[in-house]
Amino acid sequence: LRCARMRVVGVTVLAFAGLAVALDNGLARTPPMGWMSWTAFYCEMDCVKHPNACINEQLYQQQADRIVQDGYLAAGYTNVHVDDCWMDRNRDAQGRLVSDPQRFPSGMKALAKYMHDRGLKFGIYEDYGTKTCAGFPGSYGFLQIDAQSFADWDVDYLKLDGCNINLDMMPIGYPEMARALNATGRPIVYSCSWPAYLINRPDKVDYNVIAQHCNLWRNFDDINSSWRSIMSIISYYDHMQDKHIPTHGPGAWHDPDMLVIGNAGITVDMARAQMTVWCIWSAPLIMSNDLRNIAPVFRDILQNKAVIAVDQDPLGKMGRLVANTTDVGVYLKAMTPVDDATGDYSYAIGILNRNPNNRNSVEFVLGRLGLNSAGGYRIDDLWSGQLVGVFRPQDTFQTIVNPTGANMFKATPVALADMTGLRFASFK
Ligand code: GLA
Repeated sequence: LRCARMRVVGVTVLAFAGLAVALDNGLARTPPMGWMSWTAFYCEMDCVKHPNACINEQLYQQQADRIVQDGYLAAGYTNVHVDDCWMDRNRDAQGRLVSDPQRFPSGMKALAKYMHDRGLKFGIYEDYGTKTCAGFPGSYGFLQIDAQSFADWDVDYLKLDGCNINLDMMPIGYPEMARALNATGRPIVYSCSWPAYLINRPDKVDYNVIAQHCNLWRNFDDINSSWRSIMSIISYYDHMQDKHIPTHGPGAWHDPDMLVIGNAGITVDMARAQMTVWCIWSAPLIMSNDLRNIAPVFRDILQNKAVIAVDQDPLGKMGRLVANTTDVGVYLKAMTPVDDATGDYSYAIGILNRNPNNRNSVEFVLGRLGLNSAGGYRIDDLWSGQLVGVFRPQDTFQTIVNPTGANMFKATPVALADMTGLRFASFK
């Protein structure tokens, strides 16, 4: 989204807008982090039968309270996102969206305030088509009015879905909403589902164009809380990595969909696997789970500082699959700190075992993967928090990965690493 900085300075600069080539709204410089309702609560609207699991304002308030009180906000999860099914079936007499009067009696501005009062940001859901995916009023024909409502309600982030619209309209409508948001003058992170609806029309997906209008975008199927779903997303991203990587970076992120960690069906190993790969990709970390009811082991996985630091690395690079066998994928992500003198990067290394039954022992020579810093690397295990040792490019690194699990390491060039207590350590 590269056309908004001008809005901050107003009319005089707008006069020169035609000269601008690639302006930027300055938002989402690191991948967004937060909590979204969809994959945990879907479109449950029966608050009589399901008082604690229906889409209403209490749900978002209670999840927000947990985010603040249980350490998620401190770990970086700042956004609380309403998803589909928050609206009334009809717009008001002025054509404006209205929240469901029974389930959101205080309205969206009050819900935004609830978040802002607690240091959180507030995200909302709409759809570019005539209706949302669940059949509520869509923004088609109302883009400016809706953008203005979101700004009036102090919304910080919009997820704009793409159900119920002709595919040929995608390249028209998504940029139009970007302009409408910019015109409000409120900084609003813009998440587009545009390429997700063109999954069978890859010829129509130009990420360079999409990145000019959107801060992040969905491009594959909805996730659900299963290993099969996580794996299908990973396989798709592996397959598409050469197309994805060049357009991924600060302000413009591919979104592989929500983290399902903490939900029934996802084991501890699977949770580490999803977190590892999502962080290696610099993917948005948007949880969808029930934070009122989550085991500490999953909370700790979601809040692992060293792992989150990989995701939030300021270079914002999307890591890539660099070695692959039937069972195992090795992923590498260049990150900070970088040695200015030699140009050597630090790396996050993720090793995924896709096999559901067998542990796998994995070994590789560092230099073969491109870890060639002459002075070697300090390698830390990010899940255990343990130092593994110091390795030269010609050394072999070996690790054992659980079924449906992943191990994750950081390799820091020795010249940049904290070597306190390691001065006399010999190479492995
Ligand atoms: C689509 C999106 C989901 C969710 C639903 C809501 O399927 O991809 O993330 O927002 O719509 O209806």
